[in-house]
Amino acid sequence: MTQICESISDLDRKHVFHAWAQATIQDPIVIADAKGSFFWDEEGRRYLDFSSQSVNVNLGHQHPAVISAICEQASRLCTADPRFSADVRSRAAQLIAEVTPGDLDKIFFTNGGADAIEHAVRMARLHTGRHKILSAYRSYHGATATAINLTGDPRRWPSDQASAGVVHFWGPYTYRSSFYADNDQSESYRALEHLERTIVFEGASTVAAVLLESVVGTAGVLVPPEGYLAGVRELCNKYGLLLILDEVMSGFGRTGKWFAADHWNVVPDLMTFAKGVNSGYLPLGGVAVGDRVKETFAFKPYPGGLTHAGHLLSCAAAVATLNVMEEEGVVRNAAEIGTDVLGPSLNRLWEKHPSVGDIRGLGVFWMVELVRDRDSREPLVPYNASGEDARAMVEVVAECTNRGLWVISNMNRIMIAPPCTVTAAEVIDGIDILDSALLIADGYCG
Ligand SMILES: Cc1ncc(COP(=O)(O)O)c(C=O)c1O
Repeated sequence: MTQICESISDLDRKHVFHAWAQATIQDPIVIADAKGSFFWDEEGRRYLDFSSQSVNVNLGHQHPAVISAICEQASRLCTADPRFSADVRSRAAQLIAEVTPGDLDKIFFTNGGADAIEHAVRMARLHTGRHKILSAYRSYHGATATAINLTGDPRRWPSDQASAGVVHFWGPYTYRSSFYADNDQSESYRALEHLERTIVFEGASTVAAVLLESVVGTAGVLVPPEGYLAGVRELCNKYGLLLILDEVMSGFGRTGKWFAADHWNVVPDLMTFAKGVNSGYLPLGGVAVGDRVKETFAFKPYPGGLTHAGHLLSCAAAVATLNVMEEEGVVRNAAEIGTDVLGPSLNRLWEKHPSVGDIRGLGVFWMVELVRDRDSREPLVPYNASGEDARAMVEVVAECTNRGLWVISNMNRIMIAPPCTVTAAEVIDGIDILDSALLIADGYCG
């Protein structure tokens, strides 16, 4: 009865325990409808979705082929215990294996990205008999126990037990180099030197794996300089470590290739995925496993599994998503939008706005990094700022929202990640709104 009197927002405030900072958002938008690159609130206001929700709706909202595949599967067989084989699960695994790089052709399904990380790490530890995992400070790997400890950015701090066998290192980031490098080539070289020193001083015989996002996502959309990922692969080979690439955010077309690692032809031993695998319509993730780890578990059972892993409805959505991506040239569209539209338009914003310190990205995966001063590169808001200290960013993002552009921001950065199906006209509309909002950021420049 109470539902009749109380608004959706009231009920949400009263009963929904939100994640992360969303708990402190006073008036979350009530999302009511969505199609393609847009969603609508309950008052019928339209928003251009430049975040693909959580960078997962790669096919855009409500693709009819995916919806009908889910409905068709639901009417046939909703669920089956992971011990059974089921046509749609096998088919999803086959289609994923067809696009994953190299010998990664066996798929361990999970419910999402964080549990994919948990299992990739468990596999690496059992395979090598070692415990330590090296991961980057500038990273996000998920919110479960091991994944959050592996995460480098401040989302780790409240849950960090410093006991998960994790060692953090610095990856390449030429704009804010940890190695006093002023170009990509030396950044790559010095970052590799630093990683090698970390391996040696930690004791290679104690390290199971290096874990990296192929292109770092929320911690900066950091595209690794030429040679870096291949160099990490070589270091792993040299010291007998596994390489785990986290493609949860960068996978399934986001960077204009099936997987970001494909830009540099690097094949990891284990690769985690989730989000875009079924355009986020239902929870699904997994680990793609290569020959070395596959052999370890060929005759001994892997100790781990999840009730809903490889859920049939999620797998049906994955099969439909992968078919649509192939048939509609979605990966090619993401690549072309990146090179022909997003890259040049963001570059124009960089030329025009003093607050834009750096832009970087690939495909439909970009970051605009805002500063108060281009020479000193002082960030628009301090690292991990909140409350009044974060005001400048809050104002810029609010202006985007008020003008009908939905973006996600992190510290002094605005991420640009529309669906891989976005059109050039939609991108131009969104960039126009961002252009106006950046005038607010310019006002903070000295
Ligand atoms: C690179 C990366 N890895 C792992 C995760 C965790 O995925 P999930 O939220 O599905 O657990 C995320 C989520 O944003 C991510 O971006």
